[in-house]
Amino acid sequence: MLRERAFGAMGRAYAPYSAFRVGAALLGADGSVTEGCNVENASFPAGICAERAAVAGAVARGVRAFEAIAIATEAEEPTPPCGICRQVLEEFSPHLAVISFTRDGRAARWTLDELLPRAFTPKSLDRR
Ligand code: THU
Repeated sequence: MLRERAFGAMGRAYAPYSAFRVGAALLGADGSVTEGCNVENASFPAGICAERAAVAGAVARGVRAFEAIAIATEAEEPTPPCGICRQVLEEFSPHLAVISFTRDGRAARWTLDELLPRAFTPKSLDRR
């Protein structure tokens, strides 16, 4: 299940600086699931979010279309993906289902269209 895969990835997060561990599980249109976790760095801006790590892993294995992403954190409330991750998800799956889970079973669900309305997309580059 996507939720369990996201929590499994959260357990492998490398987040010694923020202590905010995030896991993501990305469901491909082909049925594959690719996990990602946040990987921080002593040079703080060099860190990467769980959601983008999952996208990079999926693309590297040849998957570029996604149905849903599950996000797992230790926050009190379900957290949506950050703005940069929204943009990266938009590139491949503008109508993606985004489901965020807390450890005590709370969940929130959005579509990427809701989270990033009027997005800059590959089509925006048409008039180069
Ligand atoms: N983080 C994610 O992995 N995903 C998000 O959508 C929000 C933030 C990470 C980045 C950083 O390692 C930590 O959470 C605190 O911001």
